[in-house]
Amino acid sequence: PEGMSCQDLAAALALNDSEIVKVLFMKGIAITVNQTLDEDTVKLVCKEFEVEVVEAGTIRVEDLAKKSNTFIDDEDLEHLESRPPVVTIMGHVDHGKTSLLDFIRKTKVAAGEAGGITQGIGAYSVDVTVEGEVHPCVFLDTPGHEAFSAMRARGARVTDIAVVVVAADDGVRPQTLEAIAHAKAADVPIVIAINKIDKDGANADVVMQELSSHGLMPEEWGGDIPMVKVSAKKGTGVDSLLENVVLVAELQELSANPERTAKGTVIEASLDKARGPLATLLVQNGTLRKGDIVLCGETYGKVRALMDHTGARVDEARPSAAVQILGLNEVPVAGDEFEIFDSLDVARSKAQEHAEVMRQSRLAAQAGEGKVTLHSFA
Ligand code: GTP
Ligand code: MG
Repeated sequence: PEGMSCQDLAAALALNDSEIVKVLFMKGIAITVNQTLDEDTVKLVCKEFEVEVVEAGTIRVEDLAKKSNTFIDDEDLEHLESRPPVVTIMGHVDHGKTSLLDFIRKTKVAAGEAGGITQGIGAYSVDVTVEGEVHPCVFLDTPGHEAFSAMRARGARVTDIAVVVVAADDGVRPQTLEAIAHAKAADVPIVIAINKIDKDGANADVVMQELSSHGLMPEEWGGDIPMVKVSAKKGTGVDSLLENVVLVAELQELSANPERTAKGTVIEASLDKARGPLATLLVQNGTLRKGDIVLCGETYGKVRALMDHTGARVDEARPSAAVQILGLNEVPVAGDEFEIFDSLDVARSKAQEHAEVMRQSRLAAQAGEGKVTLHSFA
C-alpha cells in the first residue's frame, strides 16, 4: 500500500484538508494538501480522529457517535432534550435533490413561511406530519456537481440522516457512490429516494439492483436500507419518504443540551458587500444567542444578528437549528467548528493562535522541510 493523498484521506474521513494538515503539524509533520501520505502517516491521522483503519484503502469511522458526541460533554448529560434530526439531501448532479426539497418545503413548510425563503442558505426547517404527529426536521441541500466534494463531505459529517437521491432514468452514478461513501464513513444511516419515477425509461428495479451490488440491500428485498420511489415533480411517494426519515430519526434518539452555550459547525460562509461576513452555522449543541462571542477557526466576533431560513431575525437558535449570523471579523472556512467565549479578547487570541498554526504549517510545507518542531512558532 503506497498510502493516499491528503485530499482522499480528508474525503474518506469527512474532514477538511486543513484539519489533517493541522493535526499533522501539531505532531511535527509538515505536509501540503497535495502530498501523498504514507501508510504510517495515514494511520497516525486516523488514530488522532479515533478512526479504525480496516485495511489499506478502506477506512471506517467507527463513531459518528464520537464525531457528533464531541459536541456533547459529560455536563450535558443531565440536561439532554430531544432535538430535530438534521437530514442532508445528497446524490449525483441533476438527480433532483433541490426539486425534492422544494416539493417538501412547498407542501410542508408551516403556513406563512413559504414566501420568504432566503436563497443561498441551503438549510431549511420543515415540520413533517406523520399520522397526525408533527416532527420538526432540518434539511440541508448539497450540490451534486463533482467539484463540490468537500461540501458533500461536510454535509455527511454534520448530518444525522443522509437521503441519497438516485434518478430512476439515470441510475447509480459517481457522485451517488461518493455520497454513499461519505455517509458510510460518517456512520450516518442512509435512506434512498429513487426519483423521477414519473419519467419514461424510469426503472426503479435497476437502481435497486445497482445499489445492492454496491452493498446497499433494499428493505423490500430483506435488507436494511429503506428505498422509496418518488417523483419530486409530481410529489408521488414524498410522504412515504418523509415517514421513513422520521422513523430512522426516532431510532437514533437524538438529543442535546439547550441550556449550555452553543457549539456546532460552519456550513456556509460568504462576504456580503453591504453587511460583511455572513456565516451559516449549524447549532449541534446548546443555544446560540444574539450578543454571543463566537470563535470559528481563524475568525471571531460578537453575533450582531441571527437570521432563520426565512431571512427573519431571531434572538436565538436551539440545537439542530441552522442560522445565518452577522458579526464575524472575517469570512470563516466552511467546515470549521465554532464555539462561544465569554470575552472578545480570548476569542481574538484563540483565532490568532489558530491562524498562526495554519500559517506556520503552510510555510514549513512550502519550505520543503520534512519536519518542524512546535518550538518553531512558540
Ligand atoms: P444539482 O444541485 O445540480 O446537483 O441538481 P439537483 O440534484 O438538485 O437536481 P434538480 O432538482 O435541480 O433537478 C434537475 C432536473 O431534473 C430539473 O430539470 C428538474 O425539473 C428535473 N427533475 C427533478 N425531479 C424530477 C422528477 O421527479 N421528475 C421529472 N420528470 N423531472 C425531475
Ligand atoms: Mg440542487
